[in-house]
Amino acid sequence: MMNGKTVILTGANSGIGKATAAGIVKLQGRVIMACRNLSRAEEAAREIRDETGADSTQLVLKQLDLASLTSIQTFCQDIIKEEPRLDVLINNAGVYQCPYTKTEDGFEIQFGVNHLGHFLLTHLLLDLLKRSAPSRIVVVSSKLYKHGHINFEDLNSEHSYDKAFAYSRSKLANLLFTCELARRLEGSGVVVNALTPGIVRTNIGRCIRVPVLAKPMFNLLSWGLFKSPKEGARTSVYLACSPDVEGVQGKCFADCQPQVLLDKATDQEVASKLWDISEVMVGITT
Ligand SMILES: NC(=O)c1ccc[n+]([C@@H]2O[C@H](COP(=O)([O-])OP(=O)(O)OC[C@H]3O[C@@H](n4cnc5c(N)ncnc54)[C@H](OP(=O)(O)O)[C@@H]3O)[C@@H](O)[C@H]2O)c1
Repeated sequence: MMNGKTVILTGANSGIGKATAAGIVKLQGRVIMACRNLSRAEEAAREIRDETGADSTQLVLKQLDLASLTSIQTFCQDIIKEEPRLDVLINNAGVYQCPYTKTEDGFEIQFGVNHLGHFLLTHLLLDLLKRSAPSRIVVVSSKLYKHGHINFEDLNSEHSYDKAFAYSRSKLANLLFTCELARRLEGSGVVVNALTPGIVRTNIGRCIRVPVLAKPMFNLLSWGLFKSPKEGARTSVYLACSPDVEGVQGKCFADCQPQVLLDKATDQEVASKLWDISEVMVGITT
C-alpha cells in the first residue's frame, strides 16, 4: 500500500501514464499528474476518479511541458515550495517518431523531451527525494533502445534526422541515465530503476501514418496483440510501490522481472559522458 505517499508522474493523462496513475491511487497513493495540457489532464483525472473511486485529494494536476526548460524550472520551484516530501518520481512522458521538430530550447524533440527534459526534472527534484528517503525514481524506457546509439557529434540531429533512430537513441539515453544516476545515488536512500513496458495500445503512435485502408486491420491487430494500458503500466506500478524491489538499484525490468541489457545500455564511460553533456545542454552549472 502507498498510504498517502506522494508520486510525481509525467505524462499522466494518457496511455501507460494514465493507467499507472489509476494503479497508484488504487493503492492509496497520491499522484501529482504532471501534464503539458491541463484540460486533457482534468479529463483523465475525472476518468481515473470514476474508475477507482479515488477522492479529490489523491489526484493533483500540475502543468509541465518537458519541451521547455522554463516550464520544468517553474514546475520544480512550485513542487519544492508546496510539497514537504516526494516519495516517487516516475519519468513516463514520451514522444515517438515525430517529424523533425525542436523544443523551445532548440533540442531535437525526442532527445529533448524523453531524455533532457526528464534529466533536468530529476536533477531539480533530487534534493527533495533525498530528504524523503527511502524514495524511488522510475524511468520508462523501451526495448527499441537496442537500435539506438549516442552519437555525441550530432545529438540534436542537425546533420541528419531519422525519426526511428532518434526515438531509439532517446530510450537508450534513458537507460544510460539510469545507470549513471544509480552510481551517484549509492548510499543515499534513493533508488532508480528503469523498465520497458512492451508494446502497449496507447496514443504513442500519433505521428505514425497508417494508410486509411490498412487502419481497420491495424486496429484489429493492436487489440489482439498489444498490451492494454493497464497491463503496460504493471511494471511502473510495481517499481513505484512494491516492497519486493526495496533497495534494488540501477536495474531494468520488464513484466516485473529484471532483464539483461545489451552492453551499450550499461557502458559506464558513455553514461558518464552523456551525463556531463546533458548538464551542459540544460544549463546545470554545479
Ligand atoms: N506504447 C508503447 O508501446 C510503448 C513501448 C515502449 C515504451 N513506451 C514508453 O512509454 C511511455 C508512455 O507512452 P504511452 O505509450 O503511454 O504514450 P501516450 O499515450 O502518447 O502518452 C505519452 C504521454 O506523454 C506526454 N507528453 C508528450 N510530450 C510531452 C511534453 N513535452 N511534456 C509533458 N508531457 C508530454 C503526453 O501528453 P499529451 O497527451 O498532452 O500529448 C502523454 O501524456 C513513453 O515514455 C514511451 O516511450 C511506450
